[in-house]
Amino acid sequence: MNTMISNPSKGLTGTFRVPGDKSISHRSVMLGSLAEGVTEVSGFLEAEDALATLKTFQSMGVKIERPATGCLRVHGVGLHGLKQPCEDLYVGNSGTSMRLLSGILAGQNFDSVLTGDASLTKRPMRRVLDPLALMGAKVESTEKGTSPLKISGGAPLAGIEYKMPMGSAQVKSCLLLAGLYAEGTTTVIEPAVTRDHTEQMLRGFGYPVTTDGDTVSIQGGGTLQATTIDVPADISSAAFFLVAGCITPNSDITLQHVGINPTRTGVIDILLQMGGKISLLNKRIVGGEKVADIRVQSSQLKGIAVPDELVALAIDEFPVIFVAAAYADGQTVVTGAEELRVKESDRIQTMADGLLSLGVDAEATPDGMIINGGKVAGGEIESFDDHRIAMAFAVAGLQAEGAITINNCENVSTSFPSFVTLAAGCGFELSAK
Ligand code: S3P
Repeated sequence: MNTMISNPSKGLTGTFRVPGDKSISHRSVMLGSLAEGVTEVSGFLEAEDALATLKTFQSMGVKIERPATGCLRVHGVGLHGLKQPCEDLYVGNSGTSMRLLSGILAGQNFDSVLTGDASLTKRPMRRVLDPLALMGAKVESTEKGTSPLKISGGAPLAGIEYKMPMGSAQVKSCLLLAGLYAEGTTTVIEPAVTRDHTEQMLRGFGYPVTTDGDTVSIQGGGTLQATTIDVPADISSAAFFLVAGCITPNSDITLQHVGINPTRTGVIDILLQMGGKISLLNKRIVGGEKVADIRVQSSQLKGIAVPDELVALAIDEFPVIFVAAAYADGQTVVTGAEELRVKESDRIQTMADGLLSLGVDAEATPDGMIINGGKVAGGEIESFDDHRIAMAFAVAGLQAEGAITINNCENVSTSFPSFVTLAAGCGFELSAK
């Protein structure tokens, strides 16, 4: 899919399930591979990023069967059973694969190389390499601190206490995974709450992890026991429909079985504060993760100052939150979100440029954006190969004054291959070519 064209819609309706959570899918393969025994996974996200993780473990000798769509049978090899891959490990667009794998690979007794696509090879890796070096890992990057990453096997790791300079679940997870192989205790202190799927899933595999406020600790030398994982639908994918339902008149959508882990629900809180008609139905716990069906109805949104403490809890949803702000009455101000500048694209700049070109009063700031809501014109948008930018502008087209054409949409398949089908199915006037 090269291009998406999004035209105004008269209303969105339907009850459906978006694909599986990307973060949980990655971790299910990683921990399943390192466990003793066979882990059964259902609801796995069959999209490029999570499949990249799957392929790297297959190339390190892990047998992973795929009996049905979304179902995996991971034959764990134990913490010390991975084999040296014959080739470099290519993880495509996936920052989660690269950063989490660097922690696991640092603990192996073989050498390995991690590479990625043009976007990933520009993204900062020192944030994991510096603390890994403090643990004793031997990892080389380019001079700019980017991939390829060359990881030398056999370096003994020792636990550290590390105060993270930025809120990042990928950095935290990398260190906890390296901590499985380290002598003693590895402790990570977070400046802001970030998604805790690694901690939750490690516990699900019977591996103790201690959380005390902003501090997470793990001891090396244990074992993981295979388990069963039901991956909920991804709230980050659901977010496109939450905003879509709010901004489109005559809409009433229910998204089924969505993960509502409290470290991920910032987008719901932000939309509620903006006046979104969103309700959580049938709340339950599935495999240790909170899940609900989420109903969204047409709403008159108003601008808000997004509270800083919600930023890390909604970090992947800002592209579409900016679209919500463009349709809201009044001003929305986002601060403390400088991490958006180092995602698959610089999401502050790409969103501000795109919104400006659609006539929206949007101003990029170093750590966020100021948007004065109003009319959105039609136009042509560059997605900069960023899946979430592409999908956010498809949502923007729902109530724009003309068609919005979005270029370079191939990477939608990294997280949400069925986006166009599901969107068209509930009433988007969306086509792809
Ligand atoms: C992720 C953490 C976040 C998020 C990414 C997935 C994870 O990245 O943006 O899409 O699965 O741990 P950061 O850790 O860089 O914030």
